[in-house]
Amino acid sequence: MASTATLPQVDHAHISAMAESVTLPPVVPHHEREALLLQAKTLLKQQDAVLVAHYYTDASLQQLAEDSGGYISDSLDMARFGHEHPASTLVVAGVRFMGETAKILNPEKRVLMPTLDAECSLDLSCPAESFIPFCDANPDRTVVVYANTSAAVKARADWVVTSSIATEVVSHLHHLGQKILFAPDKYLGDYIQRTTGADMLIWQGSCVVHEQFKARELMEMKRRYPEAAVLVHPESPPDVIALADVVGSTSALIKATLELANPTFIVATDNGIFYKMKQMAPHKQILEAPNAGIGATCRSCAHCPWMALNSLRNLISTLESGQNEIQVAEDVRMRAMVSVQRMLDFATNRPSFSKK
Ligand code: 13P
Ligand code: SF4
Repeated sequence: MASTATLPQVDHAHISAMAESVTLPPVVPHHEREALLLQAKTLLKQQDAVLVAHYYTDASLQQLAEDSGGYISDSLDMARFGHEHPASTLVVAGVRFMGETAKILNPEKRVLMPTLDAECSLDLSCPAESFIPFCDANPDRTVVVYANTSAAVKARADWVVTSSIATEVVSHLHHLGQKILFAPDKYLGDYIQRTTGADMLIWQGSCVVHEQFKARELMEMKRRYPEAAVLVHPESPPDVIALADVVGSTSALIKATLELANPTFIVATDNGIFYKMKQMAPHKQILEAPNAGIGATCRSCAHCPWMALNSLRNLISTLESGQNEIQVAEDVRMRAMVSVQRMLDFATNRPSFSKK
């Protein structure tokens, strides 16, 4: 059951306005791309640095990660890879919480990001100043937070989860008889609640990208492509999730394009993921799920404006200048590490959990 206790208000209009106001970096012309890739690769090597990129970042960054011995992944595996890799500098291409998670786990390493302006609407929806008193007011609940949160919010949590492990962790806690306070994504929280039957009090944040996917238009698209499987990230609204053949993390959705026999996929997540999907399943047709309704326009339709702030150029200038280093206060880091490490240990020890 989902609890109905009064929740702090989330200022969705302000967060959407922030997403709309992001100024995207200029597109790198094709003829400059090879030279920039080479320059970035050389700098990474010179500085004993490894690039860890999220699937939503620009294709050039994903290519650089592949060509330079780095890694492209979902947020759980990004944390795991950065933790296990011996490089003394981690360069995290993604949004700020991903860089902070890397720093929480690796205090001895330098963690750089191509930009420090890459927010996440879920992180923005859950400020520590209102979240911490809310947790204090609900002491009977185990606090489970999505990785898309600040280090201060993670520090207050009992558990951190990513989309690839959230349902398993909450199911585990539910079977131990625990009641949950989950933050910040209301749609992911709702999906986990329906899947596990746990008693959950759910914060009301949302992702500006995934909340745009529309069920009515998706139903029409399914009729036009009867051979297609629908792949949906669980940050999407429940009526969109209800139409999915596969609901899962970015890694799980990529895996589905490989494993399902369908020749076509309709994908309800950020279209940056198409780089990997097309690479893994080159003969299959990958289509964007409809968003914002027929005829509508929006800046964050199927592409996260903050992920798009990462570019080859700002990655190079970060490596040259050493700026954009992630810092997390040591007392916050120590407390946040407990809840992040709990997730990593759970992922390692749980037999039913598959890495990809
Ligand atoms: P994943 O953990 O599935 O990669 O998701 C991260 C994210 O921010 C999705 O919007
Ligand atoms: Fe956050 Fe949504 Fe962007 Fe993922 S896609 S980083 S949840 S705003």
